[in-house]
This record gives sequence, C-alpha cells and structure tokens, in this order.
Amino acid sequence: MAKLAVPLLILLFFPSFISSQAPLPLQTAIQKDRSTSQYVITAYLQTPLKLTKLLLDLGSTFTWVNCDDYTSSTYQHVPCNSSIASLLGPYACLNLCDGPPSPNCGNNSFLFLADNPIKPVDYRKVNGLNTALIDPFALPNAQGSLTLINNFIFSCARTGFLKGLAKGITGLAALGRSNISIPIQINKVFPSTPNCFAICLSGSNSQPGVALFGSKGPYNFLPGIDLSKSLIYTPLLLNPLGKDSDVDKPIPSSEYYIGLTSIKVNEKMVALNNSLLAINGEKGSGGTTISTVVPYTKLQSSIYKAFILAFLKEAASSAFNLTTTKPVKPFGVCYPASAVKNTQMGPAVPIIDLVLDRQDVVWKIFGSNSMVRITKKSVDLWCLGFLDAGANPMVSIWVGGPSIVIGGYQLEDNMLQFDLQSKKLGFSSSILSKGTDCAKFKFPTKKV
Ligand SMILES: *[C@@H]1O[C@H](CO)[C@@H](O)[C@H](O)[C@H]1NC(C)=O
Ligand SMILES: *[C@@H]1O[C@H](CO)[C@@H](O)[C@H](O)[C@H]1NC(C)=O
Ligand SMILES: *[C@@H]1O[C@H](CO)[C@@H](O)[C@H](O)[C@H]1NC(C)=O
Ligand SMILES: *[C@@H]1O[C@H](CO)[C@@H](O)[C@H](O)[C@H]1NC(C)=O
Ligand SMILES: *[C@@H]1O[C@H](CO)[C@@H](O)[C@H](O)[C@H]1NC(C)=O
Repeated sequence: MAKLAVPLLILLFFPSFISSQAPLPLQTAIQKDRSTSQYVITAYLQTPLKLTKLLLDLGSTFTWVNCDDYTSSTYQHVPCNSSIASLLGPYACLNLCDGPPSPNCGNNSFLFLADNPIKPVDYRKVNGLNTALIDPFALPNAQGSLTLINNFIFSCARTGFLKGLAKGITGLAALGRSNISIPIQINKVFPSTPNCFAICLSGSNSQPGVALFGSKGPYNFLPGIDLSKSLIYTPLLLNPLGKDSDVDKPIPSSEYYIGLTSIKVNEKMVALNNSLLAINGEKGSGGTTISTVVPYTKLQSSIYKAFILAFLKEAASSAFNLTTTKPVKPFGVCYPASAVKNTQMGPAVPIIDLVLDRQDVVWKIFGSNSMVRITKKSVDLWCLGFLDAGANPMVSIWVGGPSIVIGGYQLEDNMLQFDLQSKKLGFSSSILSKGTDCAKFKFPTKKV
C-alpha cells in the first residue's frame, strides 16, 4: 500500500496539470431499477478501472463504495492530521488498525460516518465509521472515452450498507451540496469548465437517461433538440440546519431546496399554510427539496390533504369526468385506466403547477409525471403519484424535514440543470411536449 507523505498528497489533491484537453462534458447513463425505483449511475473506479454501479443521490455529501470488495493498486488513505482531512470536516480518526493493510484498514486514517438514504444503516450490526480513500474515478466523455479524476475522495463502506439497494449497486454517488460531491471534484480538476451538472431521468425501465457534468449545454437529444434552450430558472436555496447538525453546531443541509410558493391544480390555487412552504432556519423544517432517492413526491399532511381535495374536485369536473375507485397502496387516489384518455403528455388529468419564486416561474406537472399506472391481476388503474409525508417530517431526532420532497417519478423526462456557480436550478417541465424524452440523449457511438 502506498504510504505517501502529506506534502505529496497535497500535490495530488490539486492536480491542476492534468491534461486539460480532456473533453467535457462528462456524461454517463442513469438507469432506473425496475423493482426498487432507484436511479443507478454508471461510473468507473479503482486501478485498473472497474465499472461501478452507484445509487444516484442528490442529497448526499460524499460518495461511498463497498470496500469489502475493493481491490486497487493505487488507493491511499487520508492521514488524519493532513490538510485534506481538515477539508473533509470533523469526523473520526482510525489511529491504529490491527489487521493487514487494506482499503478498510490503515493506521492514522481519516474516517467518514456513512449512511444509506434508502435503508438507514444499523450501526449495532455494521461498522459505520469507514476510512476515507483517494483513488481514480472516471466517467465517459463526449468522445466516448473515459476522463480520469485521479485523486477522487470518497468513503469506504461495508457489505451491510448495501441493504435495500438494487441488485448490482455497490455504493452511492453523491451529487449533494458539499465540497466533495462528484460535480465539485470534477470542477476542481477542470476549473475552467462550468461548475454545473444536469440530469435527465428516464421513465423507461429499459432505456437509460443521462447525467452531464461540466456543461451548461448544448444538451442534444434526438431528433435534434437542444434542451439547454428550454430551461427556466429558479434560485437554489440553502437550509442552514441540516440533518448532520449538532445541538450546538448547525451544519447546512446537503439537499437542494427551491422556493415553491404555491401549488395550482387545473389553474386553481390550492390553499396552503405558507409558513410550511418557507424554510425555517431555526428548526430545519419546511421548504421544498428535490430527491432522486424518494420515488414519489411527498407532501406534509396538511399540504397533502388540501392538494388531494383540489385534485379530486378538478378531476371530477366535466372536463375530465373522473370517478375514483379503490386505491392501491401506497397511493391514495386511483382511477380506472379505462376512464382516462391518453395524450402525448400521458393520461389526461388536471395539470399541476408548482409556482416557484415568481408567478411566471412554473414547473408544470402533466399526467405523465403525476399518474402512475398500476396493472395487477384484476386491476388496471392510474394512481396519483403523491404521498403523505406525515404531519411533522423529521430528518434527525431533532431536525425538521422539508414540507415537500419532489420525488423521482415527478422528475422523469424533465431536464434539470444544477448551476452550482450561480446557485440556480434550470428546469424544463416535461420534455415530452418537445417531442423527445430522457432516453433520447445522443451518446457517442463509440462505447467505453
Ligand atoms: C501527523 O501525525 C503524525 C503521527 O501522530 C505525526 O508524525 C505527523 O508529524 C503529523 N503531521 C502533521 C502535518 O501534523
Ligand atoms: C468542506 O466542508 C467541510 C464540512 O462541511 C468544512 O469543514 C470545510 O471547511 C469545507 N472546506 C472548504 C474548503 O470549503
Ligand atoms: C499499524 O501500526 C502498527 C504498529 O506500528 C502495526 O503493527 C500495524 O501493522 C499497522 N497497521 C497497518 C494496517 O498498517
Ligand atoms: C402553519 O404551519 C405552522 C408551522 O408548522 C404552524 O405553526 C401553524 O399552526 C400552521 N397554521 C395553521 C393555520 O394551520
Ligand atoms: C361522466 O361519466 C359517467 C360515468 O362514468 C357518465 O355516465 C356520464 O355521461 C359522463 N358525463 C360526461 C359529461 O361525459
């Protein structure tokens, strides 16, 4: 195992002399796993580089990988008192490791406290404190070859961390608000490219969507559509009190918040408690986040109830003439599929408007993103894909959670651009209206 002195590590961490002709954007497939509704990103790690499937998470600060199954000729630990460790924040230190040197075992190694956003890790059964590693990470570029991020920082984890994750996933890809997220580490290596990433989640179980790093466009989709021209923008907001906060030390949330100010159904305003829509910086509660690890949008109970009532009323009106039928869990509102007309934008149901920072900045949700088709033995339904988050959502024992989490299903076939430089979100609403979808991204013909 390489045991490098601290000054050398510092040089390695700022590899400003890596060939800058490497073409950005980096672009990689996002595949939806059918049985779990998880979104899986393809990356490459280790030496020699190995294809690695990771859970895409817009809310995590650092990437982790199962090190019980990790062999690489280049990995290094992060010495606890090094300047890199001080950048990583105040976690723990493994002073002495008894076993033979391995990715999971090294003396004087900085430790992350990792977790699984789908199924919280039971730390009584699995060691949650895991060593930080530095090793090559790579993603495909626009030419179809791999671009290397040589000194990528991530955390080890154990096999027990993979519970609840789709088959084949061996870790988590962190795209959250942090200084060691994947987009930020890419930007540190290519500082002259836009500090920006974009995702387009495909609703198809077979055809992947795409994640793009280091480009504000063009985002080329068949048949010849540049979706970067279809974006409207709203500020990305910060919640100063995130789930990792201590009682005496607030740590900002790693989730991306947007300023939702009202919801309309079929152009009619839903009456909501406005104080729930704002971020409460003292409690960490309230506000609206975007999540790829929550399959369906979750609404705080009072918002959910008002929203459902408005939707039922509009769906029953003569324009739609829809009568509910017995719902199928986890959904609360379902209609017989035979009663619902189909359109280019999915089933014909009332359109939902998420009104953001201004009245004219509206994220439109059509049937293709609001309704979920449930076909089972004896039923064929369209169900409203919004769920009740409970009266008092929490993200830790004492830190409140967002009132609204916009979930993966509502993001599918929408282009989302996270501009980390200007701290704004570019969004397209459904791109079905443009005659394309997220599976129609033009990947280079050359395969990695
Ligand atoms: C880090 O700690 C080790 C062992 O405790 C010590 O030998 C080394 O000098 C320290 N390095 C720095 C940069 O403080
Ligand atoms: C990176 O984030 C950590 C944890 O939030 C913080 O302690 C550290 O100061 C940050 N480093 C930089 C360079 O911003
Ligand atoms: C850690 O240091 C101890 C004492 O110097 C040594 O016996 C042990 O092999 C070292 N462990 C690793 C993983 O290098
Ligand atoms: C609105 O929400 C806030 C925050 O949860 C709560 O304190 C208040 O009682 C609510 N107001 C109404 C009218 O329900
Ligand atoms: C509405 O649907 C009901 C049965 O579902 C039908 O009897 C009625 O004629 C429909 N009304 C209109 C205006 O389409």
